Amino acid sequence: LPPNFQEGGDVHLKRVDCRAKGGAPGFKVAILGAAGGIGQPLALLMKMNPLVSVLHLYDVVNAPGVTADVSHMDTGAVVRGFLGQPQLESALTGMDLVIIPAGVPRKPGMTRDDLFKINAGIVRTLCEGIAKCCPNAVVNLISNPVNSTVAVAAEVFKKAGTYDPKRLLGVTTLDVVRANTFVAEVLGLDPREVDVPVVGGHAGVTILPLLSQVKPPSSFSPGEVDYLTDRIQNGGTEVVEAKAGAGSATLSMAYAAAKFADACLRGLKGEAGVVECAFVASEVTELPFFATKVRLGRAGAEEVYQLGPLNEYERMGLEKAKKELAESIQKGIDFIRG
Ligand code: NAI
Repeated sequence: LPPNFQEGGDVHLKRVDCRAKGGAPGFKVAILGAAGGIGQPLALLMKMNPLVSVLHLYDVVNAPGVTADVSHMDTGAVVRGFLGQPQLESALTGMDLVIIPAGVPRKPGMTRDDLFKINAGIVRTLCEGIAKCCPNAVVNLISNPVNSTVAVAAEVFKKAGTYDPKRLLGVTTLDVVRANTFVAEVLGLDPREVDVPVVGGHAGVTILPLLSQVKPPSSFSPGEVDYLTDRIQNGGTEVVEAKAGAGSATLSMAYAAAKFADACLRGLKGEAGVVECAFVASEVTELPFFATKVRLGRAGAEEVYQLGPLNEYERMGLEKAKKELAESIQKGIDFIRG
């Protein structure tokens, strides 16, 4: 096994640890499911993030290989690997941010909800570990169906007495990334100049792009609104079908997860004005969880923003989204409460 995989193997890494301590303050980040389709490129991107001083890579398979590989990159973060349930607690102890892309992905013909049984169980186990070993960490939950797994995580943390709604965030950044890209294509702009709020949840009709609030201010024909809404809601399925059985979005998702994690870390560092969309505990609607823009700070999602003015099309979309979301959230709650 490579040195950064062995218990105590760190003795050879002292100097790197000193550099991390002596330089800019860094954060300790764990990726659970680090050997997967999302986990591997996400590990690469987090190893490149200058805000990360320690990077823990945990999986139930192939963690040593990914750890050895990523640890050879000459960037600041110290990488350590952890394999299998007996090492989960060591992987989590002392972490500031835990990113969870563990679980099975969709195959053609499957909905995100079809993944519920397997992934809800995985998320429960991992969150029990978090409650025990790093109850104050910010959690970025990627495992689908996010509309249900966030409720599963919240119930696990409540049961353990560690629940802090500000620190549990369902990752919907890929919907925003897709929306920015597709809208930029229609407008003939650079996607980096475009900001599309995407609210609701992370599955089908619960993904609600607010095209009336696009920045820079833009107007769309009814045909463009239909095309864009449909493509943003079904962007994940577009990838699942193109991959034809080999999984779902991994590279664009790793990019989105790294972008969101970086925003969380900048918030933890105290940077002002860090705003991203995320699926969080919310009072914006009557539902207990909802995705909107949130302001990220030292405490996690410190402020949850209101929806802003919606047009008729968006109001109708919101009603549809809420109906499906209510059921998905309840399913997550029932999974733990029995
Ligand atoms: P994958 O199958 O390639 O990787 C999943 C990894 O999780 C594997 O390495 C597996 O060994 C690991 N794993 C399984 N059980 C585990 C456990 N108990 N503890 C730790 N690790 C465990 O799947 P992929 O493509 O990386 O997708 C992962 C999840 O992310 C899926 O649930 C997928 O639906 C979801 N996803 C979420 C998106 C979002 O926007 N939130 C977008 C795309 C995918």
